[in-house]
Amino acid sequence: KNVLVLHGPNLNLLGQREPDIYGATTLNDINAYLTQQAEAADCQLTTLQSNAETALIEAIHNARTSVDFIIINPAAFTHTSVALRDALAAVAIPFIEVHLSNVHRRETFRHHSYFSDLAVGVICGLGAQGYELALQAAISHLNKG
Ligand code: DQA
Repeated sequence: KNVLVLHGPNLNLLGQREPDIYGATTLNDINAYLTQQAEAADCQLTTLQSNAETALIEAIHNARTSVDFIIINPAAFTHTSVALRDALAAVAIPFIEVHLSNVHRRETFRHHSYFSDLAVGVICGLGAQGYELALQAAISHLNKG
């Protein structure tokens, strides 16, 4: 089974970026951990971080024929991108939406997501652990289906 993990804008700065909100764990740490977790479950994991909407949309289009499940933190695009939402709807690959911070206890503009109503599930506020839990849920979703 193939799982694609997509990280949106500014997440390349994890570890340095507002660590009180996003934690001290770097994106490399997160990806390395997820890769191990996937290997242990006989899954193939691909990760991509981009600050550009285009790259994320194209990765979703390319996933159409090869990817069974997507884990995505759309970052700021969560609150703005109809285009990224439409890409996920177009390929119809099941996905889990992850946020490091609890967006619901932050500014009101972070309370709305263009993704949540299409997602299998949403995890927020658990920091880097949210990705581990999402991958665990993705794997059990795939083993069921
Ligand atoms: C985020 C929350 C978003 O509101 C913000 O724009 C991000 C990161 C999170 O992981 O908590 O860049 O998606």
